[in-house]
Amino acid sequence: MAELNPNIFFVAVEKVPDAVVVGMERVFDRGLHNVRFISRDAAALDEFFAPGEIARIYINFPDPWHKARQYKRRLTAPGFLKTYAGLLSPGGEIWFKTDNVPLFAWSQEQFCENGWTLREVTDDLHAGGCQGIMTDYEAKFHAQGVKINRLVAVRP
Ligand SMILES: C[S@@+](CC[C@H](N)C(=O)[O-])C[C@H]1O[C@@H](n2cnc3c(N)ncnc32)[C@H](O)[C@@H]1O
Repeated sequence: MAELNPNIFFVAVEKVPDAVVVGMERVFDRGLHNVRFISRDAAALDEFFAPGEIARIYINFPDPWHKARQYKRRLTAPGFLKTYAGLLSPGGEIWFKTDNVPLFAWSQEQFCENGWTLREVTDDLHAGGCQGIMTDYEAKFHAQGVKINRLVAVRP
């Protein structure tokens, strides 16, 4: 996406250093200058960004944290949504993709209960042909015939 959008500045957030290095190598190999990396937990986002500084957040295939008692760790949990709302600019959006049907349903509830407006909600993003840039997980799931859920949530 950074390659296709050279005038947009991207910040990649990933808590596992090895995964960060994979991303860094791809950026380096492509000679891109519009990407930076933060190797930290997304829970610390407000240490790195000023209120209203972010135009869009992509949440791609986050860990589902199946157990009910772990729900606060989901990247679409109310605590995270509050942080995102504070950092996004007016009209700012979250673009969320997951293969996980229960997480997708639960996340829609969280967005709605916390005042976000949803659009482009689909349980089969690629039904009419491949849409946009696929992440590594997305390409793998899509090749296996797994449907991809996607929504756009607009800041309350
Ligand atoms: C299932 S993988 C998906 C990787 C990639 N987004 C993709 O779509 O191919 C989930 C990734 O999210 C990262 N992650 C999960 N929770 C995180 C958090 N709270 N902060 C930062 N990264 C997180 C994990 O370390 C893991 O690399």
